[in-house]
Amino acid sequence: MLNTVKVRVPGTTANCGPGFDAIGIACTIYNELELYANYNKKLTIEIHGEGAQAIPTTERNIVWQAVKTVFQKVGYPCQGIKIIMNNRIPLARGLGSSAAAIVGGLVAANAICGNQLSDQQLLDLATALEGHPDNVAPALFGGIALSAVETSDKGIRRAHCLRFIPPSLLKMVVAIPDFTLSTKASRQVLPQAVPLQDAVFNISRTAILIGALCQGKFEYLRYALEDRLHQPYRKKLVPGMDAVFNAAMDNGALGVALSGAGPCLIAFTETNMKRIGEGMLKAFAEHQITASYHELTIDAEGAKIIS
Ligand code: HSE
Repeated sequence: MLNTVKVRVPGTTANCGPGFDAIGIACTIYNELELYANYNKKLTIEIHGEGAQAIPTTERNIVWQAVKTVFQKVGYPCQGIKIIMNNRIPLARGLGSSAAAIVGGLVAANAICGNQLSDQQLLDLATALEGHPDNVAPALFGGIALSAVETSDKGIRRAHCLRFIPPSLLKMVVAIPDFTLSTKASRQVLPQAVPLQDAVFNISRTAILIGALCQGKFEYLRYALEDRLHQPYRKKLVPGMDAVFNAAMDNGALGVALSGAGPCLIAFTETNMKRIGEGMLKAFAEHQITASYHELTIDAEGAKIIS
């Protein structure tokens, strides 16, 4: 069996407007994770890049939690571990940094254990650790992932996922404001119940969204990305959200959404990435928010062992 492994995991944008907790897209921004098993009989964690100062290097580290979950499940007798995280996915911004950490830990540990766990088992474990499937599924499998979970009294029982790649190239411009927002805080502002017409609004947009992405009919995205379940409530947590959306659309975007739980805002497009990105930053600046932007496309591979 391997004693060392290196894994690359993509960031993800979840929800994609109406597909709350169900749709996610793997993006071409990556974290890398190195795992050295049977190392020095203790837990050693090194973090480089995004979150280097903020992520715990103790037992609370989320990569370690994921690694430990696999070791316990397969009965792997671990004699110490070293984890090196090389992070490019910004932390707590709605680009799936915690999902990437969980998936990276699970996939690396599974490789160390001789790949005893199936993709389905990894998805179930990742979903249970993260609490929802829409970031972990595309982080694992790449592409656009459609997910649903079966629950029981004991919580999440099984996650289901279908993934696909659109027939033509879809690009994304993600504007990353310089403040963080935890998923927990962003979920706390959501109502426990919503009007039936809002549920129907989202179901119809989600249906059109999946059809448009599957068929490459991106002209539908303007309407298909509309949402009434979470974005209207989260708007107050992201100053300038509507103005940034308008700026992206005015500069040629096909559609816009809050990325995951925010605060990143994402514009979908086939062209004009620079113009859209600069327009989004200007709109953020008009609301006293400093931001940067990344030009991304869809990652088709998901978590991948690179050595
Ligand atoms: N679907 C989740 C949410 C994504 O919107 O809260 C968080 O990463």
